Order: sequence, then C-alpha cells, then structure tokens
Amino acid sequence: MPIALIILAAGQGTRMNSDLPKVLHQIAGAPMLVHAMKSGAALMPERTVIVAGHGADQVKAAALAYDDSVSVVVQVEQLGTGHAVAQARDALDGFTGDAIILYGDTPFVQPETLDAMMSARAAGHAVVVLGFEAADPGRYGRLVMQGDSLTRIVEFKDATDQERAITLCNSGVIAADAQVMMDLVAAIGNENASGEYYLTDIVELARARGLSATSVTCPEAETMGVNTRAGLAVAEAAFQSRARAEALENGVTLTAPETVFFAHDTYLGRDSMIEPNVVFGPGVTVETGALIRAFSHLEGCHVGAGAVVGPYARLRPGTELANNVKIGNFVEVKNAVLEEGAKVNHLSYIGDAHIGEATNIGAGTITCNYDGVMKHRTTIGAGAFIGSNTMLVAPVTIGNRAMTASGSVITKDVPAEALAVARGVQENKPGLAVKLFDKLKATKARRQKEAE
Ligand code: UD1
Ligand code: CA
Repeated sequence: MPIALIILAAGQGTRMNSDLPKVLHQIAGAPMLVHAMKSGAALMPERTVIVAGHGADQVKAAALAYDDSVSVVVQVEQLGTGHAVAQARDALDGFTGDAIILYGDTPFVQPETLDAMMSARAAGHAVVVLGFEAADPGRYGRLVMQGDSLTRIVEFKDATDQERAITLCNSGVIAADAQVMMDLVAAIGNENASGEYYLTDIVELARARGLSATSVTCPEAETMGVNTRAGLAVAEAAFQSRARAEALENGVTLTAPETVFFAHDTYLGRDSMIEPNVVFGPGVTVETGALIRAFSHLEGCHVGAGAVVGPYARLRPGTELANNVKIGNFVEVKNAVLEEGAKVNHLSYIGDAHIGEATNIGAGTITCNYDGVMKHRTTIGAGAFIGSNTMLVAPVTIGNRAMTASGSVITKDVPAEALAVARGVQENKPGLAVKLFDKLKATKARRQKEAE
C-alpha cells in the first residue's frame, strides 16, 4: 500500500520563547522536524508533505536539506490541525494510498508503532488513531472507545467531566485512505470551544458515514511532544538514554554511559570502546574495535577499525581515519584523510591534508592551510617522518619516506626520500654560557645593593 506522510509543522511554539520555529529546535544535533521525517521514513512513503507556517522559509530549507524530494506547503493562518491537513490536498493530487499524519514537534514515534497502525488499516478500519495511556492526561484530546471501536475524540476544552476522566489520549498521529482523509477534513467545522478546525473531528464524521475507526496504542515516551525549552531538554535526555542503551546492546563498551552524548545518526561498530565524556556531533561512524578516549569531540568523520583517538582530540567534518590510525591528545583534524597506521600523537593541527600509510607526524606539527583568504592542501606520502614542530605551509607536498627536520618551516615541496631542513643553523660558542651567567649574576647583585 503506497503511503503519503503529512507532517504538521506550522505552529509557532510560543512557549519556546524563541525566534527559531519550534520544529527547528534540535535534539541530538538534528531539528525535531528531521526526527519526525526519519520516523515516517520507516514506512517508505511515496510522498511526504510538510505543512509549514511560522518561519516557513526556514522550515522549508531544513526539510529540503534533509530530503529534497519532499513537498512543503504553507498554511498562512494557523486555524487548527484539520485546516493544516487540508493544505496538503494539492500536493496529494493523483496519489492513491494511505495518508498518515505526524507532528513536527513529536520526534520519537517508532517504526513498529506506525507498522501496527498500518496493520489496523489492513484489518479494515477506515480511520486509525494512535493513542497512549497518559500518566497525566492534562489537556490532551481524549479517545472515547466502545470496545475496539473509537467513537470520537474530544478535546479537553470541549470535554465533560466524565470524558476528562478518560486516560487514553490522542497522540495526534492518524492514518486513513488519503482520499477519505481529504473528504473528511473538508467537512470539518470550527464550532467548538477554541473556534479551530479540529482534525480530531474526522473520527465522528467517519462514523456518521458508516466507516469504522479504532485506536492503536504505544508507550507514552514515543508520543512525547516538545512545547518548552524544559521539554526540549527532557526530550534530549530521553534520546540520549535510548542511544546509550542501544549502543550497549549492540556490543559497544561505554565505561561511563551517562557522560557520552550521541547525535541522531551516530554509528558505533561492535567492540568499539568509548571512554567517559565523549561527544558525537552529526555524521560520525566508528568502526569495530576502535577506541575513543576521554574528552574527545567528533563530528562528520569516519574512524577506521582499531584506530585510537584522544584523549582530548577533536575530529572535525571531513576527517577520514583508516584502520589503526592513532590520533593523540590535543590534536585537531579537519577535512583530512589519514591512511592506515598513520600517527599524529601530540598537539597538532592537521587540516585539508592527505597523510600516507604509516607516516608519523611529530608533536606540535601544523598544516598551515589558511593564508587569510584561501585554503590550501598538504599532501604527505607513505612512511614519511615529520619532525616535531614542523610548519607545513600549504600548498605543499612531502614525498614517500621523506623527513623534515624538527622545527622546520616547509614552504617548498620535499621529494621522496629527501630530508628537508628549514631552520636557523646552530652555532656553539665555547665557554660563553658561564661568562654570560657570571655577568647576569653580577648585574642582579648590583641592583639589589642599590635598592637597599
Ligand atoms: C492536538 C490534538 C489533541 C492531541 C494533541 C497531542 C487536535 C484538535 N488536537 O492538540 O487531541 O491530544 O495534539 O499533542 O488536533 N499545527 C499546524 N497548524 C495549525 C495547528 C497546529 O500545523 O493550524 C501543528 C502544530 O505545529 C503541532 C501540531 O499541529 O505540530 C499540533 O498542534 P497543537 O496546537 O500543538 O495541538 P494541541 O492543541 O496540542
Ligand atoms: Ca501540542
């Protein structure tokens, strides 16, 4: 059955107290909207329609940056969830199949839950609503059930005391045939306590047409919506604890799990080991058996099998470490490929570079990649030895098995197997150290006497 996703993301999110549209606030390094898109992507939708409103340009840009095949429609005035869904009509033109509604501010709906909803659709229910047993039902819409059958959804504001006592609540996720959904949505009115077009009214409208409706339930944690900064922090914590548990389950050692922070797309291979206080930004892949030592920060990089990174290392986007590479303390790497077994163990900056197999980069080496206007590349061959405190002024190429003398400022290419020395020549003056000491001590003694 082809699926179309409709993701509602037009709301302002007043309580976030922010210039940024609510759905663009991030959890684990990705906007909430992207989390919702990822949830829905599990159904392999044929079409995805995002309903934007507040900050529509920004929301559109973020949605397209993640998936440029989605359509973004604009709901100019936010007249309610039913009105929002109606905006997707043209974007669904010619589509046959099911439509499923998700909210851009509800990031954690799991694939199994959406599958269960699709199963209920396959079992013949025209409208399937995702519900949850709320610990504190608060202002959620209530699901009025009669056995397996969903009679109606009543909003808190419109509910009787008896209805308010119901604890089975509406998550907002709803599935129906797309054409049926659009027909029902077109029939919604706004005569209610809020004067809004309630999407939830489609249940009663469906029943009045002799169509069946039911609910599927999921744990409340999945339907967690974000309305405030405090809620965002709670959602972040929920994401992190799930990511940690999954990593442990997948055979990753975390010596202090609660101090390791994941991004939405972090991949850690089996038998990799992560020491305390490591932060993963987006786009990190760590292969099997790699060790990420304490206090390292990684983003947009690939760490090969058996590599060791840190402690106190920073890997920035475009870093590609082959197997068994070693990156030590206070080393920063950006947009650089390090081939198998290369080592950069201490206090270095490696940027816009290619470093060959088994090459050793001495302590304090810097690729001087930026001339103040443009970036330039450094290329170092295999089996080379870069002496401590070498400045590699890019663009520059160092050949295979070449060496640079410690303290060199390398401005010209170094051929393979050559030793480059580019520093002041040392001169030793016999006995001069003692003479100098004596002179300095005499000066100090004279000044002390004058001060008395
Ligand atoms: C809605 C449901 C309620 C449910 C709750 C779950 C209705 C009428 N009520 O209430 O039953 O328990 O969600 O969280 O559907 N949106 C638009 N355009 C609009 C209005 C809303 O895009 O005109 C978007 C919002 O950005 C948000 C989502 O729809 O992502 C839900 O809107 P919100 O106003 O938060 O609905 P609730 O009142 O919480
Ligand atoms: Ca809400």
